[in-house]
Amino acid sequence: MAETLIFSVPKENRTIRYKELIPQISSLLDGELDEIACLANATAAINEAFSFFWIGFYRVMDNELVLGPFQGPIACTRIQKSRGVCGTAWNLNETILVPDVDLFPGHIACSSASKSEIVIPLRNSKGEVMSILDVDSDTLNDFTDTDQLNLELICLELQKHLYD
Ligand code: SME
Repeated sequence: MAETLIFSVPKENRTIRYKELIPQISSLLDGELDEIACLANATAAINEAFSFFWIGFYRVMDNELVLGPFQGPIACTRIQKSRGVCGTAWNLNETILVPDVDLFPGHIACSSASKSEIVIPLRNSKGEVMSILDVDSDTLNDFTDTDQLNLELICLELQKHLYD
């Protein structure tokens, strides 16, 4: 396993950083099937690449989302289905990109510093949501199609590895 991540461009060049990050996440997963270990290293790697305000996973457990591995300030531990951005992405089983969290009805503000957010479901082979990735930024309108596309690729890689 590599001990450090290598990037050839600054954090601001997200397209190239994602291109460089994705194979490095694949190597981190290689040979490791423990869910927490894989999700933990994925959060650390994405955080190291971009320094988002908060990044982490919530896992579906007994019909609730329960806080999993994350990087950033402390966060709410349990989220009900259809509540907030995370519970809505779980219920709809689709990615939700929120340019301004104040305009999302029912947004759960774990921190008032969070201004924009993207939430992506990870599914098993039956298409059921097993966990969700939540990325928060302290900048309004911070996430673009580039983030959505590449974070979805990372989630696909994780879901194939962990839940198929
Ligand atoms: N904002 C999320 C809650 C989770 S935290 O941001 C870490 C939501 O509305 O579901």
